[in-house]
Amino acid sequence: MSESTNFIVTIERAAEILRQGGLVALPTETVYGLGANALDPIAVARIFAAKERPFFDPLIVHVPDIDWMPRIVSEFPPVAVQLAERFWPGPLTLVLPKVTAIPDLVTSGLPNVGVRIPDHDLTRQVLRLANVPVAAPSANPFGRLSPTTAEHVHRQLGHRVDAILDGGPCRVGIESTILQINEDGVTLLRPGGIALEEIEALIGNVNHPVSTVSESPIAPGMLASHYAPRTPLTIVNEIPSTVDSTRLGLLALCHVGLSHQFAQVEVLSPTGDLVTAAANFFQALHRLDAAGLDEIIAVRFPETGLGKALNDRLQRAEHRGVHRHS
Ligand code: TXA
Ligand code: MG
Repeated sequence: MSESTNFIVTIERAAEILRQGGLVALPTETVYGLGANALDPIAVARIFAAKERPFFDPLIVHVPDIDWMPRIVSEFPPVAVQLAERFWPGPLTLVLPKVTAIPDLVTSGLPNVGVRIPDHDLTRQVLRLANVPVAAPSANPFGRLSPTTAEHVHRQLGHRVDAILDGGPCRVGIESTILQINEDGVTLLRPGGIALEEIEALIGNVNHPVSTVSESPIAPGMLASHYAPRTPLTIVNEIPSTVDSTRLGLLALCHVGLSHQFAQVEVLSPTGDLVTAAANFFQALHRLDAAGLDEIIAVRFPETGLGKALNDRLQRAEHRGVHRHS
């Protein structure tokens, strides 16, 4: 990242910029976030401007420790305690009633706020030093591929952030699982870095719609088209035996028997491990998207474990409807 060294900062500087109302791209275990002081509506507005993100899409608030919860949410029921004890710090966001100090801009006017403790030491240190909760969506232009390296952030949004804290490649590689907790129980709003099976093993059945991909999203911001490369992407169940273009890319978990027909092949995990696949997913898509291909062919993942979240991201990357942005 030699051309961007002036953006790369220390944790002290990152904390100072946040306190002053600036924008800092922060590493987390899932994806890089575009952070601003969640208590400062002007700083938060700058996030929306930098991403060209619509105001109806609420932001997740990041805190370093569980003791901060009363600064963010007005209720923290026993099931939230159970989930927090097991999965935080980690790729889980809980949506709960907000305290009034959280500006409406953060929650798009909703009475609830999404909150999580990211599992990244540098970022947790920045949060403690800044001593403010940080609202952070993924640090990509709205609708585009999520960044899992500082380089991705620099390429997509470098000109619009005050600083980037380089924490290396993201360990999990896909966004957090989002659960809403209210009187109806626990509802899955977005599959993500913690598999639903693991959550249900802890707390029992979670409400979830048949598909989280639809034109009328159940969670604000869960648009059908999202996480999209510029190159058209098509999902297949198996690698086709013949293809009619020489400029095709292939994204596959492991089986690459027919891969000679493709101009570029990305195998996410030779052993078929979905956790490894998730860690490599956005990096592989960034590489395929940069290769000047006619089309990306993506092989559907098994619907178990993190495969569910990966298929969700693929479906949104494939969808080219009215919601296609930039
Ligand atoms: O892993 C992650 O969650 C990353 C890292 C940076 O923490 N963040 C992330 O943020 O993916 P973003 O903005 O790309 O996605 C946040 C989504 C929103 O689009 C919305 O669907 C849901 O979280 N969300 C946030 N606050 C909500 C709320 N109050 N009610 C319902 N859904 C909410
Ligand atoms: Mg995002």
